[in-house]
Amino acid sequence: MNTYVKNSKDSVKYFIEFLKREKIYHSPNSLKWYFEEYLFKNIDFKNKTILDIGGGIGLISFFAAASGASQVVLLEPESSGSGSNEMKKFTKMIDNFSFSHNIQLLNTTFQEFNGQDMKFDIIVSHNSINHLDENACINLLSSAKSKDDYLNLFKKMYNILNSNADSRSGIS
Ligand SMILES: C[S@@+](CC[C@H](N)C(=O)[O-])C[C@H]1O[C@@H](n2cnc3c(N)ncnc32)[C@H](O)[C@@H]1O
Repeated sequence: MNTYVKNSKDSVKYFIEFLKREKIYHSPNSLKWYFEEYLFKNIDFKNKTILDIGGGIGLISFFAAASGASQVVLLEPESSGSGSNEMKKFTKMIDNFSFSHNIQLLNTTFQEFNGQDMKFDIIVSHNSINHLDENACINLLSSAKSKDDYLNLFKKMYNILNSNADSRSGIS
């Protein structure tokens, strides 16, 4: 069932209630606060294109789509096992929201992602930046190559940002 909701405020509310009802996330009200009042405070998703790198089950992707994003690309290399509990949660969400058609899940790493012909207004890497290349991350301070590897990841992100995108970063 793909449920229709009128506007993004209703969509976000419905999404949070759904997480609670289906026990997809342990504390949906805190998640709502965390997204709206902390992580994405003053960030407007309306009509924006979003890349969610290492998005897990896609909570941020769904929140962005519910908040009016026009297109969301979710990169999750561990999304191949369709029988996994995580994939079941993702599928359950995809099946239940009218805004799901704006979300595309790609079973790939950011390094393999061929996004050269795509441009994004917002790129999110939440709790995943350190996982993108774990060895390089560990050796960041001692190895020039590791530092270069991470610089190349950031350059790739920069190159697929829309030219009018507002460049901000936050570490939490
Ligand atoms: C700690 S989880 C964070 C999930 C989600 N963003 C969140 O905040 O709940 C890190 C995620 O990064 C993904 N990941 C690891 N290496 C990656 C890579 N090279 N490219 C894209 N995603 C990657 C993992 O599969 C994992 O789902």
